[in-house]
Amino acid sequence: MSDVVYPNHLGIIMDGNGRWAKERGLNRSAGHKAGADNLINLLDYIYKNTSIKVVSLYAFSTENFKREKSEVDYLMKLFVTLFNSKLESIKKNDVKVVFSGRRENLPKSVIDSMDKITNDTKNNTKGILNICLNYGGDCEIVDMTKKIAKQVLDGSLNIEDITKEVVSRNLYQDLPPLDFVIRTSGEKRISNFMIYQSSYTEYDFPDTYFPDYDIKCLEKSLDCYRKRNRRFGNA
Ligand code: FPP
Repeated sequence: MSDVVYPNHLGIIMDGNGRWAKERGLNRSAGHKAGADNLINLLDYIYKNTSIKVVSLYAFSTENFKREKSEVDYLMKLFVTLFNSKLESIKKNDVKVVFSGRRENLPKSVIDSMDKITNDTKNNTKGILNICLNYGGDCEIVDMTKKIAKQVLDGSLNIEDITKEVVSRNLYQDLPPLDFVIRTSGEKRISNFMIYQSSYTEYDFPDTYFPDYDIKCLEKSLDCYRKRNRRFGNA
């Protein structure tokens, strides 16, 4: 494993659950359930077999609240089940779970399950799983700006001392930059996912819907990452 190059921070935009379900004559919720089952396998594989340290997942955007109430309700229940029991393998793999996003508008049951998994995993050190829930990259920048402005106003921070590190510390989570983002389903958009952390991110847009995006597909994406020539602005 040691001589194989892996991204340090991998992002996954888990897209295509709805289309996967539609093609099978199922409702959208069945697609999310299949996506969640697939996710558990992928995460277990990643933390056991690769040197990827941080995984960020786009679970639910601030805009996703505009979906049908029945779909939003289903997703909220799915999150509770995942955080309360199904993500057990995360704990076994010594991974710390953190969340990015706004807590407002989330049901109490979801907040409670988020707090429980955060607390249960807070001392884990092998990896980090950052779950973006009720998340928008634009909102993250707005919220960071407000936090920094308050510190300037109360005198605890001088304007001259605002650096990239200070900005990063005031985002929802202080994480390393994203090296590689995979968006499944063939859509070639970023959709407001971790825009501040993506200045030099590499992307892969495989055609596969997320429920079918298995370990073989992930390895193919990682191979494609290894072929990229990352220059970070250098010639
Ligand atoms: C996008 O597909 C997917 C979502 C909005 C939800 C993703 C959530 C899961 C896979 C559940 C597990 C997640 C975590 C991290 C706890 P879509 O519904 O937009 O699909 P479509 O574009 O085909 O309609």
